[in-house]
Amino acid sequence: MEVKVDASANVVGTLVLPMFEDVCNGEDFDHFGIHRALLNMIEHVIDAGDFSAKTGSSLTIHNLEGKVILVGLGKSTDFDDDAARNAGASLVAKRGKQHGCEFTARLGCMDSSQAAAYLEGAILRDYSYDKYKSKDEDEDEEEDLILHAQVAAENVEALTAAARTAAQVSTGVHLARDLGNAPPNDLYPMAYAHQANNWAKEKSNVDVKIISYEAAEELGMGGLCAVGMGSDRKPCMVIFDLNPDAGNQPPVIVGKGITFDTGGISIKPSSSMDEMKYDMHGSATAFGLMQALWASGHEERIIAISCMAENMPSSNAQRPGDIITTLSGKTIEVLNTDAEGRLVLADGLWKAGEYNPSWIVDLATLTGAIVVALGHEATGMWSNDDDLAKRLRVSGAACGELIWQMPLLPAFEKEMKSSKIADLQNIGPTRWGGSNGAAAFLKQFVQKQSDEEDAKQIPWAHLDIAGTAWGAKTNKMVGHGATGIHVRALHHMITKQ
Ligand code: BES
Ligand code: MN
Ligand code: ZN
Repeated sequence: MEVKVDASANVVGTLVLPMFEDVCNGEDFDHFGIHRALLNMIEHVIDAGDFSAKTGSSLTIHNLEGKVILVGLGKSTDFDDDAARNAGASLVAKRGKQHGCEFTARLGCMDSSQAAAYLEGAILRDYSYDKYKSKDEDEDEEEDLILHAQVAAENVEALTAAARTAAQVSTGVHLARDLGNAPPNDLYPMAYAHQANNWAKEKSNVDVKIISYEAAEELGMGGLCAVGMGSDRKPCMVIFDLNPDAGNQPPVIVGKGITFDTGGISIKPSSSMDEMKYDMHGSATAFGLMQALWASGHEERIIAISCMAENMPSSNAQRPGDIITTLSGKTIEVLNTDAEGRLVLADGLWKAGEYNPSWIVDLATLTGAIVVALGHEATGMWSNDDDLAKRLRVSGAACGELIWQMPLLPAFEKEMKSSKIADLQNIGPTRWGGSNGAAAFLKQFVQKQSDEEDAKQIPWAHLDIAGTAWGAKTNKMVGHGATGIHVRALHHMITKQ
């Protein structure tokens, strides 16, 4: 989609007229540039009560002079950035062939931050995953959307800049969705690694390093190797380094990248198992975030570590009962091979600690229990640092990607350390509070800030995105499938907070 911001009154293509419910009358909208006959129709329709501007409502009116979509924004007092983002997204979602590819949206009724959110919503929603659909030969190539946004002259510059940033960040969101939607036969661990390498190739300020299965074994990454060894498609770790020479203490993002989670020997039931291709969405967000930061010209150093593996049952697979030794040296009794995300993250988190990071955030589709707790509406967050937790919460709220803090409790750490024969076990003794147990487990692999006895841990937060990375019907930015969740919230936190 191409967005052009200007202050003219020229209507190009289909006119989009957003209106508030409380000021919806035939007078109170911007009449400039609309053909008289069409204007009469609009006024008539509104005054006759055929359109009342309730949230989500829309009405298309047209005659020979042109076409206009009246868009309801609800009450002006309830309208905020989230509502504006949804309105922008729904324009694209509801667009039919009859509306053409060019739109002029009159955004003068919104403040500058709402207008920016409206454009962001439209840009984000302009996505579909159709690369595996055959195209009819005589079918026309779908044309790119062009959206003319009309605002007051004094707002043109700021809105142009906001739209540009939104477009840059959306390349990262759309990349994350592409990865999350990709079928698991084509997106396996080394395929992700190759894609990362290709991405880095012509960029002078990025390094991508791949730790192969053999190298991971050599290094002692027992968690990553144990999860991935049951598959012919071997595991790997992919490390993205953006602006490696910038000199700042880097933040590190760690992503769970299970390209398919069958459960392994503790195999899952077959219903909806196909969806377990999105069990790599943590690594999809990590990659998408690097793209978003790169595209928007971020200048500081930041690192992302993707822990890639396919969790398969086979004669080479790990068994329940196995004890593995992780990169940290800590041992884990594997009681359930379906609790695999925490095993690969154990090595990823420990590795992250080697970069002397300012903070670490991991993202993982880690537990079904978080979907029970929060549904698809919010990501669960656990953190050892109040400041980092607050920054994440505020950034999530600013972007309409809710992040909800959950408790990191010593009782759960105790449960995860209750193995009689190893340092840790990978599932708790009961099924209650499973997401908290998983978070408490991950905490064991966050390194200290220094070697001193009483040194604190590196600030760290864990985001369980099992509910928000897929199937979020109330997320208006997405039609179907992978959501690209938290590319925007993290981009916001890193660049604006
Ligand atoms: N990838 C799943 C978690 C998941 C479930 C993600 C549903 C998205 C939707 C994870 O690896 C898993 O299987 N977790 C188990 C843990 C259990 C064995 C302790 C779960 O949640 O059932
Ligand atoms: Mn699993
Ligand atoms: Zn999993």
